[in-house]
Amino acid sequence: MDSAPSWPALFPDRDFRFNFGAHPGNAAAFFAPTAEHPQLVRERAHWLQTSPAHCLLCRDEAAPLIAEAMDCAEAWGDLSPDERSALRAATAPAPQCHALGRVWEPDWLLLNPDDAGRWVLLAAAVCFPSTWRPEEKLGLPLSQIHAPVPTLNESLGAQIDKFIGAILPGTSWERSNWGLSRSSELCQHPARNLPRLTAPLRAEQVWVRIENQVLHRLPQTGGLLFGIRLENVPLSAVKAHATAAPGLQRALRTMPDEVAHYKGLHAAREELIALLA
Ligand code: HEM
Repeated sequence: MDSAPSWPALFPDRDFRFNFGAHPGNAAAFFAPTAEHPQLVRERAHWLQTSPAHCLLCRDEAAPLIAEAMDCAEAWGDLSPDERSALRAATAPAPQCHALGRVWEPDWLLLNPDDAGRWVLLAAAVCFPSTWRPEEKLGLPLSQIHAPVPTLNESLGAQIDKFIGAILPGTSWERSNWGLSRSSELCQHPARNLPRLTAPLRAEQVWVRIENQVLHRLPQTGGLLFGIRLENVPLSAVKAHATAAPGLQRALRTMPDEVAHYKGLHAAREELIALLA
């Protein structure tokens, strides 16, 4: 029997605020292949091939983290023989990032702490960004990566670095972000100029785009493996949900203007609220 979806919990009956919402997770299960594996890896291969400058990030000092992430991919045991040999054939950090970007379904990022305990992005394969530019984030600490998100650093910034530093090696936590989009495309890199949320809008043109995330502390290097898996929920499904529909309406009504701008929904906020009624 299918279990109930977890996304309704993202829309509780309270005013909008960015939420930490982390709970213990399982990185091996998070990265395990799903029924959509063939389509997902085909699309990842497409973006890695055609836009490597947008999706592949790699600093030389990331080599030990990349090697450990590849060990995880082997140890978690879900690779096909072809995927396993593609991974083993890659011997330098950049081709290794490309190979790992093609076998895992989720986007992944690797971070290490600097001397001040700030987590810094050193390598990644991000094929499905939600309207941010991965190529602008390489080498930045998390507080700078999060700088475009209004109010986030003020409300949760200090907690985020501390939280990651306290994850026990070999253990994982999971959390989610949500946004709204006029497109169900997985890759929403700004260079694609996908349609925006503007009036007039019909419910079937809108998706709630959920980023499910895992934070896994690598046991050998102590680095952070951060995974992002997307879930598109049609607005009509949220509208049909007894608690999520009023919860999302309330979040939209109470969201500060600057956050609505950041999330790209300020021009359609009233329409979206009306569509959920
Ligand atoms: C517990 C840890 C974390 C929390 C609570 C957190 C929270 C958030 C939130 C609330 C947003 C705004 C999303 C939205 O409303 O659309 C965001 C955006 C983002 N986060 Fe995190 N995050 C965490 C860890 C990370 C990590 C480890 C990375 C890895 C690099 C990361 C990279 C990003 C990026 C790239 C964005 C988009 C920034 C932009 O638009 O330029 N986050 N995060």
